[in-house]
Amino acid sequence: MSQSDTFFDYKHIWHPYASMIHPIPCYTVISAKGFYLKLKNGKNIIDGMSSWWSVIHGYNHPVLNKALKKQIKKMSHVMFGGITHLPAITLCRKLIKLTPEKLDCVFLSDSGSVSIEVAMKMLIQYWQALGQKRKLFLTVRNGYHGDTFAAMSVSDPENSLHKIYNNLLPKQLFADAPVSSFYQDWNINDIASFKKIMEKNSFKIAGVILEPIVQGVGGMNFYHPMYLKEIKILSDHYSIPVIFDEIATGFGRTGKMFAFEHADVVPDILCLGKSITGGTITLAATLTSRHIAETISKSKAGCFMHGPTYMGNPLACAVANANIKILQTNQWKKQVSNIEKQLFKNLLPLINHPYVIDVRILGAIGVVECSRSVNMFLIQKFFVENGVWIRPFKKLIYIVPPYTISTYALKKLINTIINALNKTELFT
Ligand SMILES: Cc1ncc(COP(=O)(O)O)c(C=O)c1O
Repeated sequence: MSQSDTFFDYKHIWHPYASMIHPIPCYTVISAKGFYLKLKNGKNIIDGMSSWWSVIHGYNHPVLNKALKKQIKKMSHVMFGGITHLPAITLCRKLIKLTPEKLDCVFLSDSGSVSIEVAMKMLIQYWQALGQKRKLFLTVRNGYHGDTFAAMSVSDPENSLHKIYNNLLPKQLFADAPVSSFYQDWNINDIASFKKIMEKNSFKIAGVILEPIVQGVGGMNFYHPMYLKEIKILSDHYSIPVIFDEIATGFGRTGKMFAFEHADVVPDILCLGKSITGGTITLAATLTSRHIAETISKSKAGCFMHGPTYMGNPLACAVANANIKILQTNQWKKQVSNIEKQLFKNLLPLINHPYVIDVRILGAIGVVECSRSVNMFLIQKFFVENGVWIRPFKKLIYIVPPYTISTYALKKLINTIINALNKTELFT
């Protein structure tokens, strides 16, 4: 890779949430193995991000690679309309087995955001089939569900990446975010706002949607399981289906296979993505109950109106099968619990740091909420120069490492965060 390649990237290629006039320079990764990313200059840096929560077993995993190679020899892709194949059948079978009994039908799609669109469309069609024109969704402030239009409409309208689109988005209902955190005592008042909105609008609401337990991009908050429980009880009372967005939290990240297990509740629709393929290829799934699926199928349209070109991509399904197999046979519970223990031991003491407002830990997620926003350019440079890959946003420095990270590497991630906090020039 030459200077001119780097310049071409800078000049012509759009990166996530980046300016085309003054983009923050990107670091070139030439390969990745385990929990290391190898940069162009030959330096290996420790990955604290799992490529946005997806690479749970580490990079370049031999079992995942083998699954991809084996499948590629047969076929990389074939359309899913009118055709089926074993990788998709095996995957859907696995997903149904892994999730609560009620979730019985699977719709595969390309990305997390699309799986949210699919879930919301399902409920619009569900109500149409029942003879009602419901299109309003009730959600919770500080949520994030993706970058497509319906997903943006249920993400926090103020505190979000999407504020600038507000006038274009369908207007949804937003309840106050929970205040009781995961480890605090439950305060029943937390549910008051949701309850009030539900009582007033229940006859118009098509569905409830929220991230169970962990609100990610909207603030990295871990809320009390009772909040989720109460939401499900209230929604059930009004017969309104609930969508759980487990795109970030699914497959073990919070210490349970799915975050909703912390509250012992079951959704009517479940969205999965990110780590479903162990961070190798994009794939997502929307699971629902047979009741919802069959009701939709009885609608005027006679079918569910969605069908992405790459739906059920065999390569993605094959590697997702291998990923789930690793999860089921390896020590993910122990790995995540060890990470959590180390975070409590080494990251939690930062709560006493003068520039830290809060430290939050759940499973393999560690969050430091700072009193000042980071200077993204400078802090990223600092992290890379110090041998780690951490990508904070606003006042939040957080890590979601691969489950396979070593004690030493996790210590290094934490120590580098501590060193960053002591450098005022890295903050605005
Ligand atoms: C909770 C949640 N939902 C949905 C999405 C969107 O997923 P994708 O980026 O695959 O479209 C994300 C992505 O960060 C997420 O964290």
